[in-house]
Amino acid sequence: MDSSIKTIHAREILDSRGNPTVEVDIVLENDTRARAAVPSGASTGKHEAIELRDHDKKRFGGRGVLTAVANVNTIIAPALSGMNAGDQEQIDHTMITLDGTPNKARLGANAILGVSMAAARAVALSRDIPLYEYLGSDHRYLLPVPMMNVLNGGVHAQWQGADFQEYMIVPCGAPDFHTALQWGAETYHALQDLLKKKKYPTAVGDEGGFAPKVASNEEPLELITLAIRQAGYRPGTDIGISLDPASSGFCHAGKYELKHEGKTLAPEELVRYYTRLVDTYPILSIEDGLAEDDWTGWKLLTKELGTRIELIGDDIFVTSPELVKRGIEAGVANSVLIKLNQIGTVTETRSTIDLARGAGWGINVSHRSGETVDSFIADFTVATSAGKLKTGAPCRGERVEKYNELLRIEEELGGRAAYAGRKAFVR
Ligand code: PGA
Ligand code: ZN
Repeated sequence: MDSSIKTIHAREILDSRGNPTVEVDIVLENDTRARAAVPSGASTGKHEAIELRDHDKKRFGGRGVLTAVANVNTIIAPALSGMNAGDQEQIDHTMITLDGTPNKARLGANAILGVSMAAARAVALSRDIPLYEYLGSDHRYLLPVPMMNVLNGGVHAQWQGADFQEYMIVPCGAPDFHTALQWGAETYHALQDLLKKKKYPTAVGDEGGFAPKVASNEEPLELITLAIRQAGYRPGTDIGISLDPASSGFCHAGKYELKHEGKTLAPEELVRYYTRLVDTYPILSIEDGLAEDDWTGWKLLTKELGTRIELIGDDIFVTSPELVKRGIEAGVANSVLIKLNQIGTVTETRSTIDLARGAGWGINVSHRSGETVDSFIADFTVATSAGKLKTGAPCRGERVEKYNELLRIEEELGGRAAYAGRKAFVR
């Protein structure tokens, strides 16, 4: 089958927040058609690859992506025309060279990633194999533990919820993926009942979790632990908790401002705060506990908690092999968050995963707060045996679609797949 590229066409579509994003269609010479859509973050790391926006205030408040779309249609498409879509590395490296900047500032990571993902999907379709199989390096598949963000705060809640951005439930003790998802959804509903009883609104934030104006940053942990019990599960054993405070968002001049509690904490005080939370609640991981440039604070956090829980770097590493390497060498963090659009190609994302895995680190594939129904990351997580996928609450179509895709993959793989479970967490 001739899998060389016939046409590439990009368009501007909307993401789950009503902001423009890039969608790419690829047609191969063998007439296979495939499509991919690019997600978009709100609490983005400073060092992420550039998401190209038009900055034309007359359209979408400046958030249009017509420049990125034009870059695909007029620069990338002619350059990749006739190239073998099955050579992902060559496709990705050609775009990296065409861009010529260290952070994809010229063509845009949103333009490049759309093509990178669509090319992979096109080849899988043309070979009539599932995307996870095409992207997979072996055939011993691992279904991820879902990290379900059931309570949203920070910039993902528009009405001053918790300072911490994400409170996730993690059904690590389930026997298989579909049971994990069931436990998670049941706990989500138990949490909704608890919030109603407390007369908290149950409207949801950007990632589908509830976003009440809680009394403190600790209250969600109490509520979630109770919800786990009320749903009939054992906190810690059946379902653990993961936190993403996304602390770059509340770090000002080296101090951490917890508005909800009227406290401003030095890094070492925030580390003590986390240690107390870990002593009190069944916390399995903390992501971005310290800010993206606070390598000293991060080092202290790793020293204090690195043997007890997984410490995941998102903003600090932005899926970059160089930054992850620096983290490994400096003894900072023991786990990495993986977002394809932070780096901009499938190939580079895979090298970051390989690097982290080589150091014995945990791997967590992640959605963005602005998503589409594209479920590429579900297949990608299985293909890379990452073991964990964070893709929001079991609520809002663009979140649920990823979980549903994993249900389909689990069904298809049957006995050929294992559920990652607690083993997916390093400590
Ligand atoms: P973002 O947040 O997608 O809005 O950047 C997600 C995260 O911080 O993990
Ligand atoms: Zn994060």
